[in-house]
Amino acid sequence: MGMKKIIRIWDLPIRLFHWLLVICIIGSIISVNIGGNAIQWHAYFGYCILTLVIFRIVWGWVGSTHARFIHFIPSRARLLDYVRGRSSRTLGHNPLAAFSVLALLGVLLIQAITGLFADDEIAFQGPLAKHASEAVVSFLSSVHGANEGVIYGLIAVHLAAIFYYQKLKGENLIRPMISGDKEIDPSEEADYQPSDLGRPSRDGFMQRAFALMLLSAIAVAVAYVINS
Ligand code: HEM
Ligand code: HEM
Repeated sequence: MGMKKIIRIWDLPIRLFHWLLVICIIGSIISVNIGGNAIQWHAYFGYCILTLVIFRIVWGWVGSTHARFIHFIPSRARLLDYVRGRSSRTLGHNPLAAFSVLALLGVLLIQAITGLFADDEIAFQGPLAKHASEAVVSFLSSVHGANEGVIYGLIAVHLAAIFYYQKLKGENLIRPMISGDKEIDPSEEADYQPSDLGRPSRDGFMQRAFALMLLSAIAVAVAYVINS
């Protein structure tokens, strides 16, 4: 038995993004179902989700190796190879996971933006509804309502995929999303591309400080739009 190779996959910003996103989605769903004054909390959770998703999209360009869209969004050829079972294993998101990541980010962005214009026709409206016509507000409110099912569907697929990897492929994806690291047994090293193994995600102090500054700037921009 050789030593396991420990490779940083998910930088701290990605992990915090993920688990804060989960908390905020649960919070937004609980609060909207409580209704009444809790709708204010629904809005707060929604603003946080908007901030997180914008941060994640920017981090997809400037973040560390496995956070980058360019690194994990597959070419057609790579996708076909993957589907036919002819590609090496991947450390980060595999080609199919890449699409589920993009889909989740996309529907959440739509949900958060339409929420800003939504009106429950009782006592609450999103902060930007006052800038839009009644027809637009009514349309965006119905998108906000209809998109709910799409979000639940994608989350269900997301959880099913993780369960599938755990139970049928014996691969624990959750641990790396907590600790950041994947442990590669020497006997498995040949399953991966050497270039993949040689490029861990950077996750040092500078990287994290940069992420925090970026997140703060995005939060300020979101707050500005909400209060405009
Ligand atoms: C509200 C529900 C959830 C949403 C919206 C969500 C969303 C996401 C997103 C957007 C990513 C991509 C991460 C990135 O590159 O930024 C991701 C990855 C991941 N999520 Fe979730 N997630 C949810 C719940 C969960 C739960 C409950 C678990 C654990 C049981 C989980 C485990 C994971 C794992 C392991 C990955 C990495 C997958 C991989 O290795 O490709 N997620 N999730
Ligand atoms: C991604 C984040 C969000 C999620 C997952 C979400 C989810 C939901 C859900 C499930 C409903 C109930 C829909 C229905 O009963 O038809 C709802 C309603 C509502 N949400 Fe959100 N929401 C989000 C963001 C926001 C934001 C940012 C705001 C604005 C402050 C907002 C404002 C509203 C309003 C006003 C309603 C009532 C709309 C209506 O009854 O047609 N939401 N949201």
